Amino acid sequence: MRLKDKVVIVTGAGTGIGEAIAHKFAREGARLVLAGLPGDPVRQVAEAIVAAGGRAEAHLGDLAEEAEAKACVELAISSFGWLDVLVNNAGVFIAFADTENYRLEDFERTIRGNIRTAFLMTKFALPHLQKSHGNIIFTGSEAGLNGSASFTPYGGSKGFLHAFAKGVALEQARYGVRVNCVCPGAIDTAWTRGPEGPIPLKAQEQIDATVPLGRRGVPQEIASVFAFLASNEASYVTGALWLVDGGVTPAKGNIGDRVPQELKNPPVGTLPLRHSHEGLRGKEVYRAASEKDQAH
Ligand SMILES: NC(=O)c1ccc[n+]([C@@H]2O[C@H](COP(=O)([O-])OP(=O)(O)OC[C@H]3O[C@@H](n4cnc5c(N)ncnc54)[C@H](O)[C@@H]3O)[C@@H](O)[C@H]2O)c1
Repeated sequence: MRLKDKVVIVTGAGTGIGEAIAHKFAREGARLVLAGLPGDPVRQVAEAIVAAGGRAEAHLGDLAEEAEAKACVELAISSFGWLDVLVNNAGVFIAFADTENYRLEDFERTIRGNIRTAFLMTKFALPHLQKSHGNIIFTGSEAGLNGSASFTPYGGSKGFLHAFAKGVALEQARYGVRVNCVCPGAIDTAWTRGPEGPIPLKAQEQIDATVPLGRRGVPQEIASVFAFLASNEASYVTGALWLVDGGVTPAKGNIGDRVPQELKNPPVGTLPLRHSHEGLRGKEVYRAASEKDQAH
């Protein structure tokens, strides 16, 4: 067990990638504080982990609020005594519109959900991570490196996180704190599949072809990289961006179409995931009228 007795906070842990990180870390022996918005199935994930013999507490609240972020970190300390790892995974992807049509309110929700949450959690966790010589892992995105048409502020917010993570890594190395950032490509959550997501359905159908491996990733494949980076096996890794994107960053054209069908299967799931596609439930998602039936 690579994370035995490590105390870990996972934000955005009720659904999608965060749910997978929670289960993966629990299997690796971590003690967890799982955080999400009040409507997220965070308690259910915590209960599933406890039922399987693990340790997990739930924190429900908006982590873009200073008091909630502080309370989340304090829950880890009051429950387990210290903090070893912060996983800054919470995020939002709530609009699909070219920049001239992108609503200011959606821009502000994106900055708030992706940047303010991660900044506040980092700020409040660091004094504890300095004591434990722990580490932080952010969820960035290939969009933060490459940019993305029709959700330009989302890509920009992830670019901020990439640079922020590197800066914190440089600054905190003297305390023995490592900081890294995982940059997923298109992952099979509510964001890339299903009617609740911002990407028009026709465009969703074309995602797999743009990925050299010929398919979306699954949350478990992202969680595996987080588990390595959180563990002592990654003791010489800091200030790094880890692309986990099926090769989409260097890709040119729809080369995923060339992958034979039998090689397009995701690995057999080993984590008991129940909420992979529930991340956008109850959230307001905006698609500009001109983008509604777009198939690019
Ligand atoms: N799915 C993808 O294709 C993809 C690609 C690249 C990066 N990512 C990143 O992965 C992370 C997880 O995304 P996902 O696909 O699992 O989506 P998801 O919607 O299932 O997970 C995000 C979770 O964060 C929670 N959250 C959002 N704002 C919050 C706040 N202020 N306070 C507390 N919780 C909050 C949401 O409610 C949700 O449960 C995000 O940071 C996202 O940017 C996803």
